[in-house]
Amino acid sequence: MARIRTPLSERLGLQYPIVCAPMFIISNKEMIVAAAEAGILGSMPSINLRSHAAFREALGWIRQRTDRPFAINLTIKLTDPERLQQDFEACIEFGVPAVITSYGNPSEIARRAHDRGMVVLHDVIHLKHALKAQESGADAIIGVAAGAGGHAGTTSPFVLYPYLREHLRVPVVAAGCIATGRQMAASLALGAELVYMGTRFIASTECGADERYKSMVVNGAPEDIEYTDGVSGVHANFLRQTLPGSASATADRGAAQDAVQKEGGKKWKDIWSAGQGVALAREVKPIAAIVDDVVREYTEALRALPPLED
Ligand SMILES: Cc1cc2nc3c(=O)[nH]c(=O)nc-3n(C[C@H](O)[C@H](O)[C@H](O)COP(=O)(O)O)c2cc1C
Repeated sequence: MARIRTPLSERLGLQYPIVCAPMFIISNKEMIVAAAEAGILGSMPSINLRSHAAFREALGWIRQRTDRPFAINLTIKLTDPERLQQDFEACIEFGVPAVITSYGNPSEIARRAHDRGMVVLHDVIHLKHALKAQESGADAIIGVAAGAGGHAGTTSPFVLYPYLREHLRVPVVAAGCIATGRQMAASLALGAELVYMGTRFIASTECGADERYKSMVVNGAPEDIEYTDGVSGVHANFLRQTLPGSASATADRGAAQDAVQKEGGKKWKDIWSAGQGVALAREVKPIAAIVDDVVREYTEALRALPPLED
């Protein structure tokens, strides 16, 4: 079987060093199974399932369909503490090989996860938080660069990945705008051991996103993405046309939040997040076909690099 190996992809038992990144509301169990069968690490936030019982059921469903590795995203401060605890216990019980922690301190989860041999990945946008997460026991740090879907950083990937790598003992995972194999080659060249792709997988057949959302992703340009804290108070990237008028770049933050609240539970459900990688996602396809494309493009990119000549 063809493989692309890095130390971290080997540790996780992956065929290719790619993660189908967790996405609030739209990642689902179908994506996890398709990703696993395509040789990459699928994931979803546990809270994408409405209740703990539904989450357990989803874990059972996944386990019946694949024995390959996958990950669950535990959104620490966004999840009710009792639910977080129950979901984590279920991850242990079902032998989930990896957890992705975000929005909080991963130390308690990391300590217990390590007793069970689970790998803990934690996402950050700054070195300061990366160092803290490393001290808390994270096995790898996901560096979320400028232009990423969801809560993105502002540092260029050209700097973020080598900078994190220089200062950390643990491996770095590259996140932000990666939609093609060319970018995977660049990310690995910059020192990352896995690539973490969200936006590209919104435009997958298995993804639970609305068809209009998928269509905006495959027809999008970088200019369609707006970086704003007007939706939740934390900066994130959104498809501009789904933001309420007053949340656009010209509006002040208070007005934007008022507009969002007036529209009831619209936040994240109808206000659609995506990163600048929309520019390179051109077709809705099954996850297996996206992975084939990325691997082919990666191989072509490596071959196309000019060697040093005498
Ligand atoms: C719609 C959407 C929802 C997201 N929700 C989450 C989430 O619940 N938890 C999380 O850790 N990251 C979340 N993210 C961030 C992704 O896991 C990942 O960091 C990001 O998509 C990578 O950048 P890219 O979209 O440019 O590939 C979300 C991203 C998107 C696009």
